[in-house]
Amino acid sequence: MAEADNDQGLAGLASLPSLDALMQALDARDMTPGWIPRDKPILTATMHSQFVPAHWRYAEARAAMQSAGRLIDTELAERRNFVMRNPIEGNDFSTLRTLICAYQSILPGERARSHRHTPHALRVILESKGSFSIVDGEKTPMETGDIVLTPGWSWHGHGHDGDEQAYWFDGLDVPLTQLLEPMFCQDHPDGWESVTTTTDHSPMRFIWSETLAALAQAPADPTGHFGTTVTLPAPTMPSIQLQVHQWASGWRNAPYRHASNMIYVVMQGEGSSSIGDQTFHWGYGDTIAAPAWNRIAHHASADTVMFCMSDEALMRWAHYYRIEALA
Ligand SMILES: [Fe+2]
Repeated sequence: MAEADNDQGLAGLASLPSLDALMQALDARDMTPGWIPRDKPILTATMHSQFVPAHWRYAEARAAMQSAGRLIDTELAERRNFVMRNPIEGNDFSTLRTLICAYQSILPGERARSHRHTPHALRVILESKGSFSIVDGEKTPMETGDIVLTPGWSWHGHGHDGDEQAYWFDGLDVPLTQLLEPMFCQDHPDGWESVTTTTDHSPMRFIWSETLAALAQAPADPTGHFGTTVTLPAPTMPSIQLQVHQWASGWRNAPYRHASNMIYVVMQGEGSSSIGDQTFHWGYGDTIAAPAWNRIAHHASADTVMFCMSDEALMRWAHYYRIEALA
């Protein structure tokens, strides 16, 4: 009987009298015609990031961190950090489509409890003497200029044995994890993960002096787009590409746009960058967000070292990547 009903239904569906009736029948079955116009088209001729170019000043974040150091402790705030949200409507945390960043600070004597999560994370240490990180039981220093990795699902916590408030930049792929949905997060059962080894040298730590030495050995950039570049190996966090650029005072790049979201952190020097239709004047510790497919033009007005995290390797892996030289 049910089968007969179904056959009748199918016969009716196969002989609908009008396009309106077809639309209604599809809607009732959670199907939508591919040919109708939509608020957000399924296919577009060119990519267009919904995110906008943006700039955050470290000097301002640092001053506000000093207030935060007085006003909130690490009991209340698991991590004392300021997230850099892209200023588009309805967005309260993503910096760009796949990446998020924050400024974070820790006071002498403090401990930030250990946890782990699927998103990959890194830190660029902006001012620190005596703070440290514990990643899967390994304790390493976090000194000014260091870049420290915490690959997804690694236990990580940090503390500070020095005398001065410490500051760093955090970068993660949380928005990508949210898009793909495999978000998992756990607090360490002991609260604070115990140290099993202590070392200055770890694949989880890129020391400032070694980064400078690697830049000194790096070949010139034949494209003129990026400047002298070192790619930092981070094989256990393949969704985030980590690079450090060196730009001599007066250097200008050959402008370009590419299908990769990039976040820059100024590790040394000063200058300006035009991203899309906006120009930002930057100095030490500043963060600049360049959404994919915006024109990128840099000018260093002092000898500069620029950290860059991006989703370029991810875009290349997916065969989505493309790049165009521009005037
Ligand atoms: Fe974390």
